Amino acid sequence: MKKTRLVSLPNLKEAAKRNPEEKSLVEKVDSKPTSFLVSWGQGKTFCIRTYGCQANVRDSEILRGYLLALGMKEQEEFLGADLILFNTCAIRENAENHLYGELGRAKEAYEKNPETIIGVCGCVMQEEFAVKYILHHFPFVSLIFGTNNLTNFYSLLDDCLEHNENIVDVRSNSDLVPEGLPEGSQARESKVTAFVNIMYGCNKFCTYCIVPFTRGRERSRKAEDILAEVNCLKEQGYKQVTLLGQNVDAYGKDFGDDYAFASLLEKVAQTGIERVRFVTPYPSDFRVEVFDVMAKYKNIMPFLHLPIQSGSNSVLKRMNRRYTREQYLEIVHQLRERLPDVFLSTDIIVGFPNETDEEFEETLSLVREVRYDAAYTFIFSPRPGTPAYFMKDKTPMEVKHKRFDALKALIDEQATTRANEFVGKDVEVLFEKVSEKDPSRISGYDPHNKLVHVKGDASLIGQIRKVHITESHTYSLLGELMDED
Ligand code: SAH
Ligand code: SF4
Ligand code: F3S
Repeated sequence: MKKTRLVSLPNLKEAAKRNPEEKSLVEKVDSKPTSFLVSWGQGKTFCIRTYGCQANVRDSEILRGYLLALGMKEQEEFLGADLILFNTCAIRENAENHLYGELGRAKEAYEKNPETIIGVCGCVMQEEFAVKYILHHFPFVSLIFGTNNLTNFYSLLDDCLEHNENIVDVRSNSDLVPEGLPEGSQARESKVTAFVNIMYGCNKFCTYCIVPFTRGRERSRKAEDILAEVNCLKEQGYKQVTLLGQNVDAYGKDFGDDYAFASLLEKVAQTGIERVRFVTPYPSDFRVEVFDVMAKYKNIMPFLHLPIQSGSNSVLKRMNRRYTREQYLEIVHQLRERLPDVFLSTDIIVGFPNETDEEFEETLSLVREVRYDAAYTFIFSPRPGTPAYFMKDKTPMEVKHKRFDALKALIDEQATTRANEFVGKDVEVLFEKVSEKDPSRISGYDPHNKLVHVKGDASLIGQIRKVHITESHTYSLLGELMDED
């Protein structure tokens, strides 16, 4: 077994430290590999497994960019690959457990070929107990790094190969905003739609959530760097950008500008890219100016994912969400006043510690009032290190499951009703990919983020076409392609 070098281990307490005075620093990344790495990479293969949210999808694209630049080829299956990377998610316990199952399978790959480099990165690696668990149970893992030192990837890989040792280098904090990351479209998941980070980290510390610990403090990219990326994507033929951040509407607050998101969104719309979306806004950071911009530009899609988490003020307080049910409803009202046609989705946590029947009823009543078009629902999962993990919880799991089912039934019913309203209408669909279930179908999204399938072939990918909707399901629509005018 190789020697393990511990360069740095994560520390959740350290990660929680925030200094509001501290300014973030732009880090110009020099992404040139050493000649040693380039000759190592020629003809070799890699496989990246990505879990979690869009932030991880984007991080994996950056890692893919680094690996492609070494002359390596990507493969779907991890068995047989020369380098396997697991980009992990810590948001709920089952995401973490899934990783340990996959690592069990990776052991097989290592036993077949002990030259295989197995790396684990992402949010789970920001937790010291998880790193220690991996070191103990999966000693064949050669590379462990975190969300704050992705841009060090070449030097980590170089060290690991040249010195034939396992490397653990996870930094708990960062005030860096990396620029100059791999830009080529070949590294991105899609040639049609692209994620663009506008800010990193989160300062909100909702009591259930691990993200502020795993992603560091909020730091925004400079508007000019974001716009340069969007323009570059547009030139490469991309049709849609999704601006990414844990609280996109807090964009620019670290520069001292509370209104920066509205102005950034407007500038992105003015690039003329066909479609602009953004995730995720935090309810109380919204300024109505953002809604005004959404109403003004046709290329900003009439869709908003606005997490509520709970409809009960007492639960929201225990979650440290910084708004009330009434304030949230007011935001929805202001939005719908300006954009009557907007579609809304949300995230809801069921079974937060000691949630009562009455508190849960308030969530149901809020869902009835808002009439969401879609909602992602989760049963509370205690995350070690977060305040809610230490709350004594008297609500039985069985009750939580019953509530979850009741909420899901209500949401599905609402979504079905809303989806039925599409039948007989014509919508504009941006086609993204061949349907996985039925290769004779091609799939894309309408402006409201409704998934639409039509009969067609891959030549439609990247086109925006009118579709006549003939059939609706809860979360997808079927239609027929209309002739071009
Ligand atoms: N920054 C975004 C969401 C990030 S995590 C926001 O604030 O909305 C995505 C979703 O996962 C959250 O909205 C929440 O609903 C859910 N989530 C986060 N931590 C969780 C936990 N410990 N248990 C269950 N669900 C959780
Ligand atoms: Fe987590 Fe809350 Fe930050 Fe969202 S806002 S990432 S839920 S701490
Ligand atoms: Fe998961 Fe990290 Fe995203 S915990 S949800 S991958 S920020």
